[in-house]
Amino acid sequence: MDKMWSGRFSASASDLLDQFNASIMFDRKLYREDIEGSLAHATMLEHQGILTSQELEEIKGGLAQVTQEIESGTFEWKISDEDLHMGIEKRLTALIGDAGKKLHTARSRNDQIATDFRRYVLKKNLEIVEGLKYLMQEVIVVAEKHTETLIPGMTHLQHAQPINFGFHLGAYLAMFKRDIERFEDSYKRNNVSPLGCAALAGTPHKIDRELSASLLGFESVSINCLDTVSDRDFALEILFNISTMMMHISRLSEEIIMWSSYEFGFVELSDEYSTGSSIMPQKKNPDVPELLRGKTGRVFGSLMGLLTVMKGLPLAYNKDTQEDKEGVFDAVETAQISLEILKEAIKTMQVKPENMKNACKIGHLSATDLADYLVEKCGIPFREAHFITGKAVAKSEELGIDLSDIALEELQAIDSRIDEDVLSFLSIKNSMNARTSQGGTSSLRTKEQLIYFKNFLEA
Ligand code: ARG
Repeated sequence: MDKMWSGRFSASASDLLDQFNASIMFDRKLYREDIEGSLAHATMLEHQGILTSQELEEIKGGLAQVTQEIESGTFEWKISDEDLHMGIEKRLTALIGDAGKKLHTARSRNDQIATDFRRYVLKKNLEIVEGLKYLMQEVIVVAEKHTETLIPGMTHLQHAQPINFGFHLGAYLAMFKRDIERFEDSYKRNNVSPLGCAALAGTPHKIDRELSASLLGFESVSINCLDTVSDRDFALEILFNISTMMMHISRLSEEIIMWSSYEFGFVELSDEYSTGSSIMPQKKNPDVPELLRGKTGRVFGSLMGLLTVMKGLPLAYNKDTQEDKEGVFDAVETAQISLEILKEAIKTMQVKPENMKNACKIGHLSATDLADYLVEKCGIPFREAHFITGKAVAKSEELGIDLSDIALEELQAIDSRIDEDVLSFLSIKNSMNARTSQGGTSSLRTKEQLIYFKNFLEA
């Protein structure tokens, strides 16, 4: 009968209930947020004359002691205490007596967990932004070295048009920039304090929610208490943000895996970030990008899990929402280590420009350029130009060469309007550099884009 809520009960909770009901094994991760929240709440209560200054001092001293015990590992986390709020409050009261019992005035565990968890998530949004920025910096370093390095641009995983490797990496920079903006937006939107909402309806005590909010660094105070105690949008948002970010990471990972194969040979991961096989001595495996691709799945699972927990929940707090934490903790940890290791893998990866360039000699990458030449220089309508180019491609196939190597005479035999100046249009490098439209692949445009991303990081 040692439960804080045991007043109306005549029998003790079963051990099975304790096991099933408790969150203390995982929500203890929020002990800092919880203690800071209690300090802000107590400070506000004292300011409002609800606690005496003596009581506030005792609470501060007691919470400092509890913090010390938790951080030195001597604090006893007991399943029978149910959650961190009650575990900490119980220890506080054991240490300081009556003042500890007053701390929960005008507060419920409902606004308490909403506050703790929200603050944890807000902080993690910003930490992940930092991780993304470090990753972007490393990607920029590689991209800047390769604004002239030709690589086949693909659609349908088929050779399409030549681009440069810096431009290809620039596509991921654009994705990571959007990710950063998403985390920052979530931070701004959710930066409102739940503290003082109490169980669901507010409190008759003369509290000052603005004060506790500002002590905790919140931008403002939530509008409607009924919504606030059961709102987990902030948790869903970080899960969605992480899921989208991991989806981007999985796409880059997939490409790194392909590029590392013998068939591509575009990059080689460093020994530090590759693994071997237990049976095949020759193997060097890209486990890092494979795991990144795989971990994306579990993060999606956490997002779906919480969406499903929240679906159809009646107002306001329901114990279902205790299921909100583990998936978020796991997704956040996965996101943070993923950013870190991807950054290192990219930093230490060897790029092989020769192989990339050789790959551009397969698949008639400059075919569109020949069609463009026919339109621009010969005044031929595009549909007809498309057909003539098709003939030129067929001829190249017949000769077993790439279109970029076809002889002028062969082209002129197909269409006499073709002139010598066509040859510069067929060059793979010229093809890449011809794409000077805004956002295009030409080396010049690519460099502009990289400067844009650098400026974004500095802002
Ligand atoms: N451990 C609970 C959770 O994480 C804290 C809130 C409990 N509130 C309640 N009314 N039982 O959701």
